[in-house]
Amino acid sequence: MALENGELSKELLDSQAHIWNHILSFINSMSLKCVVELQIPDIIYRHGSPMLLSELVEALGLKRERTHSVYRLMRILVHSGFFVKQSLLTTSRGKDDETKEEAYLLAPASRLLLKDEPLNVRSFLLAMLDPMLLDPWQHMSKWFQSDDLTPFGTTHGRMFWDMASHEPKFNQFFNEAMASDARLVTSVILKHCRGVFEGLDSIVDVGGGTGTVAKAIVASFPDIRSICFDLPHVVNGLVGGKNLSYVAGDMFQAIPNAQTVLLKWILHDWTDEECMKILKQCKKAIPSKKNGGKLIIVDMVIKVHEGENKVLETQLLFDMLMLTLVTGRERSEDDWAKLFFDVGFSDYKITPILGLRSLIEVYP
Ligand SMILES: C[S@@+](CC[C@H](N)C(=O)[O-])C[C@H]1O[C@@H](n2cnc3c(N)ncnc32)[C@H](O)[C@@H]1O
Repeated sequence: MALENGELSKELLDSQAHIWNHILSFINSMSLKCVVELQIPDIIYRHGSPMLLSELVEALGLKRERTHSVYRLMRILVHSGFFVKQSLLTTSRGKDDETKEEAYLLAPASRLLLKDEPLNVRSFLLAMLDPMLLDPWQHMSKWFQSDDLTPFGTTHGRMFWDMASHEPKFNQFFNEAMASDARLVTSVILKHCRGVFEGLDSIVDVGGGTGTVAKAIVASFPDIRSICFDLPHVVNGLVGGKNLSYVAGDMFQAIPNAQTVLLKWILHDWTDEECMKILKQCKKAIPSKKNGGKLIIVDMVIKVHEGENKVLETQLLFDMLMLTLVTGRERSEDDWAKLFFDVGFSDYKITPILGLRSLIEVYP
């Protein structure tokens, strides 16, 4: 459609600006990755007071010629809410020579970028922005025109989980990324949703990674027997403890019996058909509702937070991430309900308490 003369005005320029913003959005991600790699949040935090640009450049051990580039990197991250800027008067060369210099503090979100913050999201950030996970985006249109299952497969010649089982480095960084998320989510669940676990005698965390959630449950509820169940390349060699065990296996084949099955960030990795197979195995593993059987799912429910545009946008971004890396998708409440009822579960309850994700209890 050719643009009419009359449109060559605000609308035309707004359209251009909208497109430019989208073309360049990756720079937000990569700038964030850069400050994390340089450990700028840690340096500013350790400084303990607003840190001057010159102090930051010195602490980073960079040449002074990089000062203006650091200023520009910090400027975009101040703009996107990761740092707070203050102007300070500096008097290094005597009173007559007072100059204004920019100084930085951490904004609340940057606390989660600190190495020493137990709930930090650093490894998740570094994994998601690793070239292995970014390259598939370059091959997406090629994938659409192919019969391949995922753009990740088109790019790397292997499916995601197969890559994890063959590449120890990939396996390790992915497992650590998941563990970092598990630490944060578990801290919220165990604080605000304790009722979900009260009275349980056993739980199996299916696709439980290296056991972050299972360990936290045992620490918080010493009477619950916890099993962390995952593929052999994830759990082999890991040692359990009192009421904590690791079991290697394939959730499409069989799941260890327990009163409750936990599926955290599992079902969004898979198609509806694959989810139904997993859910059928889950149903076999738990007792009836009367005997306390249930599933606990942690995943997104698209549009739970109606009207919160940024939440919905992030959920849609995650949906595209699932399309690109694995065969999965993010689901609406209707999608979830259909899955549960198709497998023969009788009821479910969604508690939207985990920010972008929800806690979903499902009953046989
Ligand atoms: C997105 S990660 C979630 C990990 C963990 N639940 C968490 O949220 O931190 C998905 C997990 O499912 C595991 N997984 C993939 N295929 C599996 C299978 N067939 N059987 C058991 N686990 C599997 C992966 O190894 C991985 O640990």
